[in-house]
Amino acid sequence: MNILITGGAGFIGSHVVRRFVTNYPGYYIYNLDALTYAGNLENLRDVEDAPNYTFIKGDIVDANFVNSLFDKHKFEGVIHLAAESHVDRSITDPLAFVRTNIIGTVNLLNAARDLWKDNADSKRFYHISTDEVYGSLGAEGLFTETTSYDPNSPYSASKASSDHFVRAYGETYGLPYVLTNCSNNYGPNHFPEKLIPLFINNIIENKPLPVYGDGKYTRDWLFVEDHALAIDLVFHKGKNHETYNIGGFNEWQNIDLVKLLCDLMDKKLGRDKGTSEKLIIYVKDRPGHDLRYAIDASKINKELGWKPSVTFEQGLELTIDWYLSNEEWLKNVTSGDYQAYYEKMYN
Ligand code: NAD
Ligand code: TYD
Repeated sequence: MNILITGGAGFIGSHVVRRFVTNYPGYYIYNLDALTYAGNLENLRDVEDAPNYTFIKGDIVDANFVNSLFDKHKFEGVIHLAAESHVDRSITDPLAFVRTNIIGTVNLLNAARDLWKDNADSKRFYHISTDEVYGSLGAEGLFTETTSYDPNSPYSASKASSDHFVRAYGETYGLPYVLTNCSNNYGPNHFPEKLIPLFINNIIENKPLPVYGDGKYTRDWLFVEDHALAIDLVFHKGKNHETYNIGGFNEWQNIDLVKLLCDLMDKKLGRDKGTSEKLIIYVKDRPGHDLRYAIDASKINKELGWKPSVTFEQGLELTIDWYLSNEEWLKNVTSGDYQAYYEKMYN
């Protein structure tokens, strides 16, 4: 079975590629990635020579290129993760998100529809999405699979749009698809522009920890390997044309999470308790900042038996240990353009 994974050099994609290449020797995995600032082949050093794996550098926005790949490799499954993924970047450059997240997704949908038009049996287009499409919760309640879409950032609007296209291709052309909406991931290989890896890096470097607004925003955090496990289950056992929410049953206000991270980092770095917390500064809030995300993951739990395998404390410790023993990776991704990005965002 030839499977196309898009965005496999990114954070979540690299964990999914490793899992599929390693656990399914009967599959041939093609990893298509444009290697933007967020894509890094270092993430996949351990599987790059596997006999059932090929990396293809390319842009999903290029329809001719995408069509030629489907023509050549006759993919039977697609796991689509390639995206522009950072809310703050979507505020400064929304069109980049329209291009990759919407046009790129529709290019893949067109190519799959055309290739599978005469025989869609046992084919599957798996679209990976986010809980951010549902907008913001108040103090109470959880997002379920039937919560109305109400995106607030250009990122979540572009992901919501791509989700609608996937469902529309299911209805209009009978495209076999599954779709999942997941909460905030954390773990190894996470680019240090998102909260947890950014703050780990800043603590290592003794740089300020910029908490947006009052820090009372709430996110539901899931270890990336548990997301990859859920993706494996949904790809193989999820029902056609169904959506599943994936979440960590693990809500944290940003400021409490940052303080926990500071404590753990002080211990790991042999610093006095309270040292890293002194780095916290409150900065101007993100525009359109969603107050709270929280996922009701009972459907995937009941139907497919999925649940997170690690606690947050275990996952955070694994994550911190990974960053502390992969300083070279961190140094590489934070050289060059990263400095310019950081100046622009935080100064
Ligand atoms: P990421 O930014 O780390 O990786 C995205 C990857 O896509 C990169 O390797 C990048 O090079 C590639 N890419 C970007 N534009 C491309 C293009 N035009 N053509 C080909 N490749 C391109 O993102 P991530 O955090 O790993 O997220 C992966 C997917 O999961 C995204 O669809 C995202 O919306 C979704 N998601 C992420 C989270 C999270 O917490 N990170 C949560 C839920 C859902
Ligand atoms: P982020 O990791 O960007 O994920 P998302 O916006 O997709 O949830 O941000 C997580 C939370 O942390 C969010 O409420 C914004 C906040 N945040 C900060 O307070 N400071 C920062 O420097 C960053 C990047 C995020």
